[in-house]
Amino acid sequence: MRIDILTIFPGMFEGPFSHSIVKRAIEKGLAGIFIHNIRDYATNKHRNVDDYVYGGSAGMVMMIQPIADCIEHLKSERDYDEIIFLTPDGELFNQSSANALSLKGNIILLCGHYKGIDERIREHYITREISVGDYVLSGGELAAAILADSIIRLLPGVLSDETSALSDSFQDGLISPPVYTRPAEYNGWKVPEILLSGNDKEIKAWNYARALERTRSRRPGLLNENE
Ligand code: ADE
Repeated sequence: MRIDILTIFPGMFEGPFSHSIVKRAIEKGLAGIFIHNIRDYATNKHRNVDDYVYGGSAGMVMMIQPIADCIEHLKSERDYDEIIFLTPDGELFNQSSANALSLKGNIILLCGHYKGIDERIREHYITREISVGDYVLSGGELAAAILADSIIRLLPGVLSDETSALSDSFQDGLISPPVYTRPAEYNGWKVPEILLSGNDKEIKAWNYARALERTRSRRPGLLNENE
């Protein structure tokens, strides 16, 4: 899978993809992430990427030309399944959106800033608008990193234990059950006996019951969605 990220702050992506699972996925050739500086496409004298809002309200808007040229350049090289704009007024991102996007071949993630981007970009290029939560970030970069991370870990071959993505919270509509590791007792605090029993069937049932219990108490909305 290939993800192209369009940003005016390419430096913000130096960290998130250079560690752990995503780094390994890139090294194994299972995912490619390409960062494009929108400013490189600006043709005006000062390489500006923003301008005043028409109509006089306060704040700056990202200009159409640099973004359009960057998208056109990428589209001339390959087809894209989705061109996604990260924005707080987009559809809320969740595990099922991550699952669906992990099946795509090539996607573009466009990060906005300031007061927004020229609406004509949204009208003519963007196929999907996604928000990572009901709060406002300084720009779309952190949201794009969240999308890329959650999608890439789902690609076949990325996780060493193929089943571990399947047991993630949300993957089956439930919060994950609690987990423990050695020692079996610390400070007098014991790991639940059943987990040490070796009885797979009972352990599975225990895990399911705990997952259900947690979902009911922490995120009851998830259960309603499944009904
Ligand atoms: N840009 C600013 N806030 C955002 C959010 N919550 N989700 C996606 N993109 C954003």
